[in-house]
Amino acid sequence: MIRHILTVLAVALFVPSQVFWIWQVRKIGRRLIPRPSLHRPIGWAAASLYLLLLVYNFLWPKPMPEAAHLTLRAALLVAPYQWWMLASLTGFLLIAACYALGLLLRSATWLYGRIAAPASPEAGAPLSPERRRFLARAGVAVSATPFAACAYGLLYERTEIEVTRQPIVLSRLPKAFQGFRIAQLSDIHIGQFMSDRQIRSYVAMVNALKPDLVVLTGDFVTWVGSPAATVVGALAGLRAPYGVLGSIGNHELWAGVADSITQQFAEQEIKILRSERSVIEQGGERLNIIGVDYQTLAHFGPKHAGVVREFLPGVASLMLPDTANILLSHNPNTFDRAAELGVDLSVAGHTHGGQVTLEYVSPDLSPARLITPYVRGWFRKGASQLYVNRGVGTIFSPVRFGSPPEITIYELNRS
Ligand SMILES: [Fe+2]
Repeated sequence: MIRHILTVLAVALFVPSQVFWIWQVRKIGRRLIPRPSLHRPIGWAAASLYLLLLVYNFLWPKPMPEAAHLTLRAALLVAPYQWWMLASLTGFLLIAACYALGLLLRSATWLYGRIAAPASPEAGAPLSPERRRFLARAGVAVSATPFAACAYGLLYERTEIEVTRQPIVLSRLPKAFQGFRIAQLSDIHIGQFMSDRQIRSYVAMVNALKPDLVVLTGDFVTWVGSPAATVVGALAGLRAPYGVLGSIGNHELWAGVADSITQQFAEQEIKILRSERSVIEQGGERLNIIGVDYQTLAHFGPKHAGVVREFLPGVASLMLPDTANILLSHNPNTFDRAAELGVDLSVAGHTHGGQVTLEYVSPDLSPARLITPYVRGWFRKGASQLYVNRGVGTIFSPVRFGSPPEITIYELNRS
């Protein structure tokens, strides 16, 4: 349902937004280029470039499997297109919102003039041409800020990884696991904008943190044709005394590679837990790690993969009564059910922290709010806790804004 709403919204926005911005670029171009004889050839060149980007990104068959490094085509044809599309659509939305607000204010002023102050000569008077021009320019300037923000998110923030050190207090943690450290990597989305080399650099960062255990919470790939074997090869470099455990994300299900990637990981001694548990023993005590595939209650995405009637079927039987139970679940929406079941800690990803968001200004300004109340960071419900990692990769557009990539290192404590 949400996917359909987003698709209809995107299509309805596409044509007017493109007409609006092409018109603005034309106006600015004419102002900046003093020689009128150049207007026509430069205009044709710009239109040809725009059409080339559209045709390449919409109609051109993509190489299969996708490269695991930034190709020249991706740098010249995909990145500028993605930047333009995201910025032009959000900029246009801003313009539309400003226009609607202005209309509302003018209507209210007019109504006030008619009802409360009919004798005032200024009441309901139209705006002067200077004021109109100023407001129009201010509107265009404000709506152009997404172009700068998206360029920043594409070229800088997308790769500015942060390490979050998250202490977790678990009352049922056995003494032997006091200070146990778990590193989490999530939402890698290997591809042209998440290269094999970049993943290996994140692997080196995780290894340098010297965790006791590493967990991977899904979305290793994005679509059919993503280089699954390459991401497995890169993650095979992870080192921790208690190994590497993982779970499956929605994109493995959507790409139809959940079984094959589980097998490939197993060959590298990385255990993907698919409604399974892995009991870690230390000093005669145990810690229970449970993993489940991506689950959803809504029919969302290709093949309706991962749809369940109720979250976490079968997890109750995987829990151990005498220790802390930690759940690896790609979708943070399983948290409410996990809390009901008595899971001590859920570790999730999926949201990318909103990916392009003003979450730090207001929690409501995040697209991820459409799919979950658990967008990023730490949550508690009764005795149960959840941490949502922002992931390291991107989807749809290789842009991150207000949501830098993240590696989380948890330190477990008894009190
Ligand atoms: Fe993801």
